[in-house]
Amino acid sequence: MHPIEVSSTPGITEGAADDAVSIRPPAISDGTRLWEIARDTAVLDLNSTYAYTLWCADFTETSCVAERDGEVVGFITGYIPPSRPDTIFIWQVAVDGTHRGLGIAGRMLNGLLDRLSPQGISRLETTITPSNKASDQLFRSVARARYGTLSVADHFDSSDISPRSDPHGHEPERIYTITPV
Ligand SMILES: CC(C)(COP(=O)(O)OP(=O)(O)OC[C@H]1O[C@@H](n2cnc3c(N)ncnc32)[C@H](O)[C@@H]1OP(=O)(O)O)[C@@H](O)C(=O)NCCC(=O)NCCS
Repeated sequence: MHPIEVSSTPGITEGAADDAVSIRPPAISDGTRLWEIARDTAVLDLNSTYAYTLWCADFTETSCVAERDGEVVGFITGYIPPSRPDTIFIWQVAVDGTHRGLGIAGRMLNGLLDRLSPQGISRLETTITPSNKASDQLFRSVARARYGTLSVADHFDSSDISPRSDPHGHEPERIYTITPV
């Protein structure tokens, strides 16, 4: 792995928190709503309804949803990699299109880290495609808010994650790691 960038500028706030939004662990009944939100992003790899429901059943400690007026408007699916028990790997994060720019994704990520850090889980990893500027900015913001060090490195080549039948191919994925100071 070849790090290509390192940054650790502290001092950002968590953004304009919307008090009408609550963050909680997911429930099994949320699974299909997560699927809808992921589908509607048009940028995330869409998994099956079964996969999202399974996540809501078995990975509640490392995942969360954002709820407003009784409707789930955002989610994070995450897990602890077996070889890195101090790390939360964020698989997908998404906010419904009508609720973006309100600080909801930042609140979900910081809330998850706050929930897990007493258990010694304070490193964060995720992978992001080079074209996903919103996601890049989101994780930079979280790193600054937590005074963490952010490193970015190549991770999955396009050939690793593209089916041979796909003429366009999947974008490569870079791994972002936030390490607490
Ligand atoms: C990425 C995503 C989850 C951000 O959700 P959000 O709730 O709008 O993000 P927030 O309001 O919490 O913003 C967090 C930070 O990211 C920045 N940001 C968010 N969207 C941005 C955009 N489109 N362009 C530039 N910066 C952006 C915000 O300015 C903020 O930075 P700041 O704290 O320095 O001000 C949302 O755009 C989304 O669901 N995208 C589609 C799915 C996706 O790409 N997921 C990530 C890959 S798994």
